Amino acid sequence: MSEIAGILFTEGEIQRRVRELGAAIRHDYAKRPPVLITMLKGGVIFLADLMRHIDLPLRVDFMSISAYGKGSEATGGVVRILKDLDHDIGDEHVLIIEDIIDTGLTLSYLMTALRARDPASLEVCTLLDKSARRIAPLEIRYRGFECPDQFVVGYGLDHQERYRNLPFVAALRQ
Ligand code: IMP
Ligand code: MG
Repeated sequence: MSEIAGILFTEGEIQRRVRELGAAIRHDYAKRPPVLITMLKGGVIFLADLMRHIDLPLRVDFMSISAYGKGSEATGGVVRILKDLDHDIGDEHVLIIEDIIDTGLTLSYLMTALRARDPASLEVCTLLDKSARRIAPLEIRYRGFECPDQFVVGYGLDHQERYRNLPFVAALRQ
């Protein structure tokens, strides 16, 4: 754990915020149960906690994507879909559940691809928003925390596939 510089969001803070987000989503989607879509693997911890605070007959589905080059800034966010959704989202109310939005390039590319499938609505819920680094303008309906411009790990977020299991979010030593 020597690479960890410090905790940014504690387990308690995250759990409290996740409960609030779940209540807001429950309220907004009461008459139209959503399909929650998560990108493997970073978003699954957040999804697993959040969905248990949304008391609606929702569905979940997963996508797995892979960047072509060295990060979204080099590729403009263009990604390859390794695993597509299991079910059609035509006429569905889709809510994308993200761990973190950084430049926004990956998500804006994905949203364009998903919009082409004619969902009834398409919104975004992210745990962390690194808005200082945003390149692609994005409308974020639900946001857990504003995230400082540091590389963070934990609660699903990895550094070379490690640290996803930390119950808190921490900054990595540079
Ligand atoms: P974006 O396209 O720049 O918004 O970033 C896409 C992806 O980069 C995110 O979904 C994360 O998987 C990853 N990422 C961005 N910032 C961090 C971070 O601080 N820690 C871990 N992964 C990150
Ligand atoms: Mg991600």
